[in-house]
Amino acid sequence: MAARAVGEGLKRRHVMVSLIPLSVPLYPVPDEAKGTPGDETPQHAPKLLLFFPVYAMDAPWPVYEWIETLEGEGRRMGVISVSGGGEVWPNNQCREVCCRKLEEKGFNVVYEKMLIMPPNFITPAKADLSIWLLRALPEKADKTAAEFLDSRLSRIRGKMPSRFMRFISNMETVRGKGFGKLFKINQECTACGWCVKNCPTGNISLLPEKLKPVYGKNCALCMRCIYGCPTKAITSCMPVVFKEGLNLKKIIADFEGKQPEPLEKCARGIIWKGVKKYLQE
Ligand SMILES: Cc1cc2nc3c(=O)[nH]c(=O)nc-3n(C[C@H](O)[C@H](O)[C@H](O)COP(=O)(O)O)c2cc1C
Ligand code: SF4
Ligand code: SF4
Repeated sequence: MAARAVGEGLKRRHVMVSLIPLSVPLYPVPDEAKGTPGDETPQHAPKLLLFFPVYAMDAPWPVYEWIETLEGEGRRMGVISVSGGGEVWPNNQCREVCCRKLEEKGFNVVYEKMLIMPPNFITPAKADLSIWLLRALPEKADKTAAEFLDSRLSRIRGKMPSRFMRFISNMETVRGKGFGKLFKINQECTACGWCVKNCPTGNISLLPEKLKPVYGKNCALCMRCIYGCPTKAITSCMPVVFKEGLNLKKIIADFEGKQPEPLEKCARGIIWKGVKKYLQE
């Protein structure tokens, strides 16, 4: 949603935009993303913007694997992280390793930014706060597009994550790969295959002899299968996974024509400090 909104901002400024979701199988680089030299395809476009959701204060592991498939050749790159908590410690170290790897691959990383979306894990935001964030997105995204195109802007040189923070993030990644094994599929499953098709890492299969999806050990913890299953048949006993799911369309519909409660009320507490700052900027 955030990437699409920034894409709209770029199009308004007459930039040709191609959105390549990371859900397109990444390995090998898909044909539609390859192109030939001179093309405006992602492999050869003069400017690229990488979007990633912040997972465990870092980019999810498929992003690092994707970077390995690229050749920078001095092209301009912007890096946008999308988090639930905003540009506060320790989130504010989340782009550093990613930017360094892109520079090692020959990209000229000229721009970075944090956008915020309603969080999908651990701490649910009140629906009112989600509405504040969703309504702020078009303006934030438009500003992001303008800033990215503004060649005078350069990188916010942040700090490299400490060894301790890297350790925590790496632990989360390693543990998280087997996360899907902890999901349970209940009798509501219709074997429709939606989760199989939409898992960004191809971690789910639907074996003909088993009429339920089977998980591998390549989970990126994105929650797409749980929150996107049409019959809500995938459950988890972990308290960090929202039982009721995250349905942004429903939140938007529920608030049509209504004002959310004041920010002071729905973003109370230290946990929402970064979100409040972002919305008030
Ligand atoms: C496994 C996992 C870890 C997360 N870790 C963080 C985090 O460290 N900091 C943060 O602000 N948000 C964190 N979030 C919230 C996501 O960044 C936020 O919900 C996301 O940007 C929404 O994008 P998505 O729905 O495309 O995943 C995490 C979400 C997940 C699923
Ligand atoms: S998306 Fe849901 S209903 Fe469809 S196969 Fe997966 S678990 Fe079953
Ligand atoms: S949470 Fe589900 S959709 Fe996301 S990577 Fe893991 S198995 Fe795939």
